[in-house]
Amino acid sequence: MIIGGPASQLLACKVAAILSEEIALCDYRIFPDGEAYTQVVSELDDDIVIIQSTPSDRDIVYLLQLLDVCKDRKVSLVIPYFGYARQDKIFRPGEAMTARAIASALDPFLEDGYVYLINIHAKSVLSHFKCGSKNLDATVLLADKIQSLGLENPVVISPDKGAVAMAQTAASRMGVEYDYLQKTRLSGTEVSMAPKEIAVKGRDVVIFDDMIATGGTMATAISMLRNQGANRVYLAAVHPVLTGSAVLKLYRSGVEAVFATDTLDKGVSTVSVAPLIADALKTATH
Ligand code: R5P
Repeated sequence: MIIGGPASQLLACKVAAILSEEIALCDYRIFPDGEAYTQVVSELDDDIVIIQSTPSDRDIVYLLQLLDVCKDRKVSLVIPYFGYARQDKIFRPGEAMTARAIASALDPFLEDGYVYLINIHAKSVLSHFKCGSKNLDATVLLADKIQSLGLENPVVISPDKGAVAMAQTAASRMGVEYDYLQKTRLSGTEVSMAPKEIAVKGRDVVIFDDMIATGGTMATAISMLRNQGANRVYLAAVHPVLTGSAVLKLYRSGVEAVFATDTLDKGVSTVSVAPLIADALKTATH
């Protein structure tokens, strides 16, 4: 049986359809005082898959409630977008390592369970789960979508060194070149990029990254590449967090189109990770 949390309902239905499994009926509500309420209305199986992204604190509470409902069952937990993954270190004294705190809150419910994350920002997040865990990679799904556009002499670019492996995977799938830009983060919302010599003049460019949050990184990269004579600039990102006016920033910078997966259900989520999740569940040996 598949349970779709409130943040991943459509994705959970797609996974259930691929696997021909029942999708549970659930009731998610908010009490007048702001507390979350969860009820799994369908009768539970012994073997459960919970799919719930955690873009907000409330989604973490819903996930804890679902795990509590299923606490006597064998649970495979899929967190397509794991919020707080970027707080994977203590950057300043006195800070919480929030990614660890959240994993540690979920872990006691997964004694005989397994957890799947997708393009997790920091692999160290997996180490905070004592149960078995796996990071799934959605890069080739995005690369196949881009490939279907029939771009002219495209080059794949990573906006920083952190996403080079992703750019390499995408470029190899598409049979094209790849490179990266050098980025310096000035603040939570401001990013500058040192100009780097990339042969983008007259070429279509596809920038691959794990996520787009404020859009600052991508907007700067788009402008820089357009100034260097790039033809059309496309974005491919696994997690479309897209806070505030991110979409406006991207289009004002001159992006041709944005492609993202449905780890978060947004207007740009045109590539589904359902087949990736279904495959992982189908071939699981635990
Ligand atoms: C950073 O290391 C990530 O891979 C993304 O580049 C970053 O989180 C994107 O954030 P924003 O859209 O706010 O620039």
